[in-house]
Amino acid sequence: MTTAIVTGGAKRLGKEIALALAKEGINIILHYNTSREEAEKTKKEIEGFNVKCWTINADFSDQEAINTLIDRAFSLTDDITFLINNSSIFPLGKWDKVEFQDFINTFKVNSLAPYLLSIRFANKLGNREGKVVNVLDSIISGYNFERYPYYLSKKLLETITYSLALKLAPNITVNAVAPGLILPPEGKGYDYLEKLKENVPLKRYGSPKDVANAVIFLLKSDFITGQIIYIDGGEHLKPRIVEG
Ligand SMILES: NC(=O)c1ccc[n+]([C@@H]2O[C@H](COP(=O)([O-])OP(=O)(O)OC[C@H]3O[C@@H](n4cnc5c(N)ncnc54)[C@H](OP(=O)(O)O)[C@@H]3O)[C@@H](O)[C@H]2O)c1
Repeated sequence: MTTAIVTGGAKRLGKEIALALAKEGINIILHYNTSREEAEKTKKEIEGFNVKCWTINADFSDQEAINTLIDRAFSLTDDITFLINNSSIFPLGKWDKVEFQDFINTFKVNSLAPYLLSIRFANKLGNREGKVVNVLDSIISGYNFERYPYYLSKKLLETITYSLALKLAPNITVNAVAPGLILPPEGKGYDYLEKLKENVPLKRYGSPKDVANAVIFLLKSDFITGQIIYIDGGEHLKPRIVEG
């Protein structure tokens, strides 16, 4: 049996990814930040697949929390081979109005945490094999001037994916998934997706399962690294510009 760390796994997309991995027989270290109750509920659902699940708390705006998470995870179990960097914040931030601290806050959670966790994960594995999957956003094929720090943070994570794929080879593969329209942002309903789906070549939005399936595909592949799978109904083929 093997174990995966899933960051931001208490709810929404991260939860679906964690459940899908559990269904494949993979033990889960379920990271959460503020969603303690949801994490405990998700843990129970995961255990329903007859695998082990541990919850682990960390706020990635805190450098120490990032630096210690991998050691804390390995103290729970030593057989961790997968790291899924899913945690993210999605703040509004108009390109010409954002302040220094807005960039820092977003980059910490969306880019620096996945980067540092991957490095520490690789160090911990030593000569053992492992796999990292980063969760990007298909907007990296276009522009988002309305959520500019978010957009840049995912562009940075794209570049981190490519560079770590090179640097962590040959023992560790580093890939990414780039979802498009999957879940409405928190606080919005499915009418949000209904309006936007007209821009999608496949004229529909996807489901969290579509994303989870792509993650599983990457975890099962031994000869794929530095690859980004767009799960966006073809949106990246006609890059979107979200004006701000
Ligand atoms: N939803 C979509 O359709 C869509 C589309 C494109 C890309 N994506 C990407 O897919 C991933 C999941 O999307 P989502 O919509 O499910 O994400 P989300 O709900 O916005 O956030 C996922 C998790 O990130 C965690 N998080 C937030 N701040 C954190 C911090 N300071 N430290 C540690 N963890 C923190 C939260 O954990 P707690 O709840 O425990 O605080 C949250 O549950 C993200 O990377 C997102 O960019 C999603």
